[in-house]
Amino acid sequence: MYVLAFESSCDETACAVLEMSEDTREIKSNIIASQVDIHALYGGVVPEIASRAHIEAISKITYEALSVAGLTLKDIGAIAVTNGPGLIGALLVAVNFAKSLAFANNIPLVPVDHIKGHVAANYLTHKELKPPFLALVVSGGHTSFFDVKSYTCLEEIASTRDDAAGECFDKIGRVMGLPYPGGHAMDLLSSKGNKDAIQFPSPAISGDTLDFSFSGLKTAVINYINTKRQKGEELNEADIAASFTKTVVNAVRSKIGEALKRTGYKKIVLAGGVSANSHLRQGITEECKKYGAEFYAPHLSLCGDNAAMIGAQGYYEFLEGVRGDEALNAYPS
Ligand code: KG4
Ligand code: ZN
Repeated sequence: MYVLAFESSCDETACAVLEMSEDTREIKSNIIASQVDIHALYGGVVPEIASRAHIEAISKITYEALSVAGLTLKDIGAIAVTNGPGLIGALLVAVNFAKSLAFANNIPLVPVDHIKGHVAANYLTHKELKPPFLALVVSGGHTSFFDVKSYTCLEEIASTRDDAAGECFDKIGRVMGLPYPGGHAMDLLSSKGNKDAIQFPSPAISGDTLDFSFSGLKTAVINYINTKRQKGEELNEADIAASFTKTVVNAVRSKIGEALKRTGYKKIVLAGGVSANSHLRQGITEECKKYGAEFYAPHLSLCGDNAAMIGAQGYYEFLEGVRGDEALNAYPS
């Protein structure tokens, strides 16, 4: 069956068409209208501007997604849409657009959780991947372990108690004057630095927990930069990026063994925007070898926000009978 999917939870307006069946997971089109250039002027996402930009883009990219797929609405078996979490005004754009299309054309509407969508990006990358497994979602808003019991049942077993890892990459990148959003630039810069140059506090909460706390690490790195600047000392930005990244990667690595033990799985799936980070992928690969666990990560083109991942998750929600009605709303968190 063909699934038409929408995503507008933050700063990407996205529409995709997927062909899904028991043994098919194929992306027919995957269009993203990015607002990064607009928000770069402000150094972060401006919610009101994001909503307006989604409204301007959504009809156009829907035509484009259908036309690249070579299909019309008559061919579509379900419409999937992210209805949370995210920026409420941004989410409502795709939710209402999808609702109108679905009810005007008598097509089933399927609401999809954005985080489940990130995990589902892996189903499109690894055609053989099936739950159950342990998932680690690292994005601009999340740093969490999930017990993925089935395609539709995900139980959060640990999370960050304050900031998310992606948020730290972006804030530190901003303080260092890197292009917005900072994650990708920090990744490249880290490769040029000495990861052992500076000791920063670990965001892994010690003791009998798999939780993280990134706010202390973020503050420590920003204080380090500000102190150096105040003293007029030279900043080695590559060393800062490398040392910060190593601290994040080691914190995540330190929790993997226990997370695998608690769930009893030998399979870990990485997801979310920060899953594009080359050092994180490398670190988890090494850690998984220690435990004889299989490691999966999405194709780089599916790490950030996109609608293909929403379509993949939407298909499995559809099979479970999940439907959105006329009262479908968006939820911010
Ligand atoms: O999942 P995502 O696209 O949006 C949310 O749902 O939050 O994640 C965006 C986050 C941003 O913080 C961005 O800087 C980060 O993912 N990111 C990266 C990399 N590419 C994107 N962080 C570290 N290394 C990267 N290569
Ligand atoms: Zn996301």
